[in-house]
Amino acid sequence: MESLVNKNIILGVTGGIAAYKSAEIVRHLKKSGSSVRVVMTASAEEFITPLTMQALSGNRVSTELLDVEAEAAMGHIELAKWADGILIAPATANTLARLSSGRGDDLLSTITLAFDGPIALAPAMNQAMWRDSRTQENLDSLIGNGFTICGPDSGEQACGDVGLGRMLEPIDILDSFSSLFDQGVLVGKDVLITAGPTQEPIDPVRFITNRSSGKMGYRLAESAIQAGAKVTLISGPVNLDPPSNCHLVSVNTAKEMYEAVMHHIKDKDVYIGTAAVSDYSPIKSHDSKIKKDGSKSAMVLELKENRDILKSVSELKERPYVVGFAAETDNLIDNAKKKLNHKNLDLIVANDVSDKNIGFDSDDNEVTLITQKEQKLLEKQTKKKISNKIIEFISRRIND
Ligand code: CTP
Repeated sequence: MESLVNKNIILGVTGGIAAYKSAEIVRHLKKSGSSVRVVMTASAEEFITPLTMQALSGNRVSTELLDVEAEAAMGHIELAKWADGILIAPATANTLARLSSGRGDDLLSTITLAFDGPIALAPAMNQAMWRDSRTQENLDSLIGNGFTICGPDSGEQACGDVGLGRMLEPIDILDSFSSLFDQGVLVGKDVLITAGPTQEPIDPVRFITNRSSGKMGYRLAESAIQAGAKVTLISGPVNLDPPSNCHLVSVNTAKEMYEAVMHHIKDKDVYIGTAAVSDYSPIKSHDSKIKKDGSKSAMVLELKENRDILKSVSELKERPYVVGFAAETDNLIDNAKKKLNHKNLDLIVANDVSDKNIGFDSDDNEVTLITQKEQKLLEKQTKKKISNKIIEFISRRIND
């Protein structure tokens, strides 16, 4: 439970018979190095006194939303800002229902609305209440909104019933809660990712582009952030929302992407080039719309080659771990290996774009990871899962 050291934790206690066990949870939290503030609902006070929780936590217990004195000391917004995590144990069926519907009519529910970090709930209720379809629907919605559910356990209940619904033992709740603060595999690493297509203007209304959706790069950015990395995402024009907590740099042309990469590459630990950078762009971009010339049945567009961004990064004196993507329609592995060597990469992710079920606009992908020493197939799965595996692969190589 090292990950709880120096963490500010709010322990929410709601009104169930298991509330007596929350005293032990406070003890465990304190022992693992956390600062604890206890917030109790009115019905929790029927089961355990605020005085007990105050003595154990060493902090004043908060119970009222509209208590002038308490708000002046540390109000609900301050509590939400202070906390690194919230654990609600026990969480009654009523609590699950109220949180899933976003109610903010007492101190604890209001704090959970104002807080945007990890929240874990340890349900405790009668087995029939747990099995009830409305409770299960509330749980689904809470999980969908990012809440972590610890338990419940099964066994004999206070009312004499036997089944699922007992609160987990405090030590097991703490185990599961502390894992929310485990450090990711890329903590302390700076990652630069390019994504999407580029647009090379022919005139003010036309451009050359390609079918890249940007999904792979955006998913990789998300996975790297979840693994603890600081991520800069340089993106061509796409229809995607950037992951929160990433530094997004939007560009249009291959030249703009090159310049943005060179500007941001300093001190990066990893560079991942998923962007489908246009290899060529028109030598001349016309200032006004090109008009149809009735005398010609064909027109020639003269193109110049763009700089290879990936190769330029791998040629830097102080280079990061460099990852390229090879989008191929034929001889996937051979062509990818050629790019690995020619561009002097640490890793290339080979991607068959001729298969309509994977690649460009799809949510799924199947790729082969190739380094000088290894070749590993990641079979068809969602781009999110593929991204997690690529990030895990990279982290193992750079942390070795
Ligand atoms: N790439 C790049 N700059 C370019 C072209 C490509 O950084 N001007 C990067 C891409 O981001 C990708 C890798 O190079 O990571 C391979 O891109 P791909 O289009 O598959 O290969 P190309 O090098 O363009 O070769 P070809 O089009 O001939 O297959």
